[in-house]
Amino acid sequence: MPETLMPETWEARRMADIRADFPILNREHNKQPLVYLDNAATTQKPQAVIDAVADYYSRHNANVHRAAHFLAAEATQMLEDARAATARFIHAASEREIIFTRGTTEALNLVAAILDTELKPGDEILLTTLEHHSNIVPWQMLAARTGAQIKAVSVLPDGDLDLDDFHAKLGARTRVFACNHVSNALGTINPVADLIRQARQAGAITVIDGAQAALHEEINVQQLDCDFYALSGHKMYAPTGIGALYGKLSLLQSLPPWQGGGEMIEKVTLSASTYQQPPYKYEAGTPNIAGAVGLHAAIKYLLHIDRAELIAAEDQLVKLAISRLQQIPGVQLVGDPRQRRAVVSFLMDGAHPHDVGTLLDQQGVAVRTGHHCAMPLMDHFGIPGTIRASFSLYNSEQDVERFVQGVEKAATFI
Ligand SMILES: Cc1ncc(COP(=O)(O)O)c(C=O)c1O
Repeated sequence: MPETLMPETWEARRMADIRADFPILNREHNKQPLVYLDNAATTQKPQAVIDAVADYYSRHNANVHRAAHFLAAEATQMLEDARAATARFIHAASEREIIFTRGTTEALNLVAAILDTELKPGDEILLTTLEHHSNIVPWQMLAARTGAQIKAVSVLPDGDLDLDDFHAKLGARTRVFACNHVSNALGTINPVADLIRQARQAGAITVIDGAQAALHEEINVQQLDCDFYALSGHKMYAPTGIGALYGKLSLLQSLPPWQGGGEMIEKVTLSASTYQQPPYKYEAGTPNIAGAVGLHAAIKYLLHIDRAELIAAEDQLVKLAISRLQQIPGVQLVGDPRQRRAVVSFLMDGAHPHDVGTLLDQQGVAVRTGHHCAMPLMDHFGIPGTIRASFSLYNSEQDVERFVQGVEKAATFI
């Protein structure tokens, strides 16, 4: 599939065509067609991605960068093509700035693991209360190793970051600023370009968790001017177990390696080793080659879709869901951010989120309930969790209708 195909318009690619690309959407549950609204947890996979992975294992499988035979050459080429496609996808200056990881969690852990020498006691790591645990816990571990302190930007009742608090907490001691691009719990789109600019001016290393943004936003890491950007393939139609960390080349060159082992070394003696240049310096061991091939296929798939129209269609679904939910007695929306992407979180009076989720599941509607790996945010709002519907390319107004009917039924039942 050439990547240069003209993007097709939303109208031209009718919903039926798009849904036909995702075989799992043919599943039924309790004799009802599946309505999949758990896309922030993971997206479904188009046939093109499933086929690409099957083709890799059926025809090209070998280990990369090592053997002399043709299969190894093909597998290596496929891995490196995937790296180049990922670099282009987020507008990195070079594919050498793309490190393959298992996902966002591993990418963020990698960054936090190589910054020991950059921090000393009294330094500060500035996070936000909106973060997923994977953008909190690795920093707590780094703080424990180095004596640095964690600070977190507060959140306003509507789910936007408190920018006054950001200004108050950002200072000369801030050595790292880590923030998500889009919140998985509320859908808040954070003003990352501004935040990065100010954090850089304060002298901080900037780290962006793009797990929820990679699918929905046009990402340009050079314009953002962040030092690191993390993403997960499985949240953008690619397989699980593959993701990427973007890092500025100069930093990747100067910072120490993370894991040690094969592939990442230049020369090994029993007393010491020298390391490869980035990105290989950060890719010890056999990579997830099939995953990278699947990620490449997902990127190609995404490039066939007009991003602006995709975003407009998702926004339309979110607006519709919100306006319908607001009419159901007992339903309380959680957060009303100024800019929101593809996520609606809510509570139902007198019902535990999990019970509402179970009632929706019985009606064939798949949503997520709980703290969404954002316990500090839930604590901030004084709630145990929410019911979260998250939308994607293949969701239709009919899906919203089924979802709302399900919530109405749950409300009556409860
Ligand atoms: C905002 C955010 N960050 C990080 C992650 C972790 O991603 P993964 O589990 O793919 O590593 C998620 C997953 O839900 C997320 O939504």
